Amino acid sequence: MKILVIGGAGYIGSHCVYSIIENRQDDEVIIVDNLATGHKEAIHEKAKFYHGDITDAVFLDKVFKENKIDVVIHFAAKSLVGESMEKPLEYFRNNVYGMQVLLEVMHANNVKKIVFSSSAATYGDVDVDVISEDTPTNPTSPYGESKLIMEKMMKWCDICLGFRFVSLRYFNVAGAHSSGEIGEAHNPETHLIPIVLQVPLKKRDHVSIFGDDYPTFDGTCIRDYIHIEDLIDAHLRAVDYLMNGGKSDIFNLGTSKGNSVKEIIEKAKEVTNYPIKSEVVGRRPGDPATLVASYDKASKVLGWKIKHTDVKDMISSAWNFHKKHPNGF
Ligand code: UFG
Repeated sequence: MKILVIGGAGYIGSHCVYSIIENRQDDEVIIVDNLATGHKEAIHEKAKFYHGDITDAVFLDKVFKENKIDVVIHFAAKSLVGESMEKPLEYFRNNVYGMQVLLEVMHANNVKKIVFSSSAATYGDVDVDVISEDTPTNPTSPYGESKLIMEKMMKWCDICLGFRFVSLRYFNVAGAHSSGEIGEAHNPETHLIPIVLQVPLKKRDHVSIFGDDYPTFDGTCIRDYIHIEDLIDAHLRAVDYLMNGGKSDIFNLGTSKGNSVKEIIEKAKEVTNYPIKSEVVGRRPGDPATLVASYDKASKVLGWKIKHTDVKDMISSAWNFHKKHPNGF
């Protein structure tokens, strides 16, 4: 089948493309990416690549007309909680309007299956220890809100137009491809694990811990880190689920285990064998205290099994990439 990967040059999208090409020889991959945050170097040479923006309906329609797409996997979005608090309208334009155009073009070309990269940020501050898909959604940032709106747009396209979607709510994605050839490289970097690893790479002197007065066991924020390899496996299961007639649904992708910011720094010290310095600063706006997933539903419905449960595996795999690419791509 032909799979259109939108955002296939980005961190998560490029790993998805690699996995399809390495593990699913009968499938063909077409990538659309505007290279705003993605990297040319992360594009697999066996994929067909279109450089352009999904808010450009004429461009996107051409991609659909030139390729008989069976299913779309949509990764292209702005995805930083902190940045979205400063530039909410950019998030609504890119994410929400981007989804609007994508769904219109899909509809016009009679392509109705989509796997969507959603986020734990849709839940916001929660008062449960472990979040299930039934936990109420109250985003605390324009980013989280944009993902929730995008899910609702797909829901109505299902009810009214016969679309089928799987929305995957990621918790904190970490790690890299086992080859170390592709990995997480943002500029500027804002995610915790790559930032922590910049200290042993001697690219920064210390890590700033954003707040140690949260209601958690050590006062720092707790997140559920999930290995990119496990995350991608769930996407390809979701594609098969939709192709086999599965109904539209939403799934959490996490490991049910939380790690605090301080714990991540401690584990990174062990992995890199380097004395990583840290300093507590103020809270970052929009950050919920704790986000930990229940992934029971993805296990039951998609048959998803997690291979990497230890966050040290994820840090080691990220470290392997960063040592090979100390300056990014
Ligand atoms: N943090 C620091 N110092 C840093 C960077 C981050 O203390 O220099 C903290 C953050 O405050 C947060 C934790 O580390 O408590 C993780 O932060 P990240 O920026 O790595 O990840 P987020 O939890 O903010 O966001 C990520 C994705 C979002 C997604 C969210 C869901 O970027 O797309 O996970 O949990 F919505």
